[in-house]
Amino acid sequence: MTSFAVLISGRGTNLAALLEAVSEGRLRARMAFVGSDNSEAAGLETARKSGIPTHLLDYGSGKEKAEQSLARLCRDGEVQWIVLAGFMRILSPSFVASFRGRIVNIHPSLLPSFPGPDGIGDAWRYGVKVTGVTVHLVDEGVDTGPILAQRAVEIHPGDTPELLRERIQRAERQLYWKTLSELFSSTPH
Ligand code: GRF
Repeated sequence: MTSFAVLISGRGTNLAALLEAVSEGRLRARMAFVGSDNSEAAGLETARKSGIPTHLLDYGSGKEKAEQSLARLCRDGEVQWIVLAGFMRILSPSFVASFRGRIVNIHPSLLPSFPGPDGIGDAWRYGVKVTGVTVHLVDEGVDTGPILAQRAVEIHPGDTPELLRERIQRAERQLYWKTLSELFSSTPH
C-alpha cells in the first residue's frame, strides 16, 4: 500500500481531513508518520489521538540536520510521498531533489497568484472576487511547482477575512484527499 508522511507546523485541519479520509477508506494509503518543526503544533495531538507516530523535526540544530533526520524517517518508514499540510519551512533544493516529484503541497490561493505565507490575507487585501485553493508538486521555489488541482472560492459581498478563511478551509478539506488519491493511484511506487 502507498505510504505517506505529513508535515505540519500548526493547527492541522488539513491533517485531520486526511486522517478522516484514510480511516473512512476514501484515501487508500498508509499515513506513516506526522512530522512537525513546532512542538506546539495542535495537529500533533490530532495525529497521536489517531495512533499515528509523530516526530519533532529539530530545526533548532539547523535545516541540514532536520532534513537528514526527516530523510531517515522516510527511509525507515518506507515512505513514498511527503505531504505538506501547513508546513511553514522551505525544504532545501537538495532535499527536494532527493524526493523529486514526490512532495505535495496545498496552498490557499489560486497559484501563481498570492504565493507565500499569507495567501488568504493577500488575496483579501488585493480585493479579488475569486480566489481558491491549489494542490501542487513541490519544486525548489516557494509555492511553485506543477499544479495538480485547483478549486475556485468566491468572495461574497459582506464577507470578512474570517468567513473567507472558513470557505477556503472547506475547499481544502474537499480537494486534498481527492487529489492525493488520484495521484497515488496513477503513479507507480
Ligand atoms: C492551509 O490553509 C494550507 O493551505 C496552508 O497552510 C494552512 C494550514 O492549515 N499551506 P492547517 O494547519 O491544515 O489547519
